[in-house]
Amino acid sequence: MTTPVSLKSAARADANGMHMDEDDILPEAVAAPLVVEFTEEEIIGTDSDSLSSAQPRPEIELPRAGPTPANRGRVVTIMNQKGGVGKTTTVINVATHLALHGVRVLVVDCDQQGNCATGLGIDKSRVMHTTRTLFTEPEQAAYCRHATAVPGLHLVVGERSLVGLEQELSTRLGRERCLSEGLEQLLPHYDLILLDTAPSLGLVTINALVASDAVLVPVQTEFFALEGVAMLASTIREVRRRLNPNLGFDGVMMTMHAPTLLNSQVQSQLKETFGDLIVEPPIRRNIKLAEAPSEGIPIHIHAPESNGGKDYRDLAVNLAQRWNLHLE
Ligand SMILES: Nc1ncnc2c1ncn2[C@@H]1O[C@H](COP(=O)(O)OP(=O)(O)O)[C@@H](O)[C@H]1O
Ligand SMILES: [Mg+2]
Repeated sequence: MTTPVSLKSAARADANGMHMDEDDILPEAVAAPLVVEFTEEEIIGTDSDSLSSAQPRPEIELPRAGPTPANRGRVVTIMNQKGGVGKTTTVINVATHLALHGVRVLVVDCDQQGNCATGLGIDKSRVMHTTRTLFTEPEQAAYCRHATAVPGLHLVVGERSLVGLEQELSTRLGRERCLSEGLEQLLPHYDLILLDTAPSLGLVTINALVASDAVLVPVQTEFFALEGVAMLASTIREVRRRLNPNLGFDGVMMTMHAPTLLNSQVQSQLKETFGDLIVEPPIRRNIKLAEAPSEGIPIHIHAPESNGGKDYRDLAVNLAQRWNLHLE
């Protein structure tokens, strides 16, 4: 046992120029339930490019989503509470590939960053009705859709007004079901509705989950991937219990995959944990995918034969099969 450290020895002055109490002693930190213990040599000699046994293996139960009800499109939320994992890139590229093959696709951007509009070459500042309108004025739903340069692909634009919407919704009765109402009259006119979400669990994201049949989870093949999915799984369980008992998972897909040992180890771990919920192929890290949004055009048009273009094409074909969509 080491003795508790006394802060008085530091004799620090705080922000108000007051000296800390002489008797202000911190008790020892609570011992953490460590997954593994390291010897000093192990800490120094850790191979940073591989997974150590420190990665906890959470038990993760992902309920499967059911089939799409007759006479309307399937609603799928693309979700991961982490930012920068490739959610928007996946939405844009899967939507484009399917639309180019005759599927009627609607993308609803539920993220205030509004990257779907940029990625699809739409000027957000000149759009009148956005995702906010879809939430607040369901009778205007038909006017919130914008045709993109890709035939058969429509977009409801997300932008900054979604920030204020969170607050506005919080005092409303039925606040979790605004998007469901907004989408109701649109669903019969599309085969697939993809909802892109922000990396946070606010009311807008909850609305997306309540309006959805299923969730598709992009994960980066890096160290915390499994922990992220475990957290998401508990959110989905909660939403199923309280708000949408039909919600389930349509799949987990891997993004920004690189040929390192760590990436391959995480890939095998994900496959072992999720089995056939994994949607192949992993999307390789590819510069063309990062460039495409700045041109305002999807990868299938910007660089269809790049690794990114091929991977998203194959992924879209596999998803179409899961979703029972017929490709022309
Ligand atoms: N496979 C990939 N290879 C290289 N860059 C990618 C890939 N997927 C996405 N990116 C880039 O990574 C950044 C984050 O991706 P994005 O789709 O916006 O993530 P999210 O929507 O989860 O925040 C973007 O700049 C995007 O262009
Ligand atoms: Mg995004």
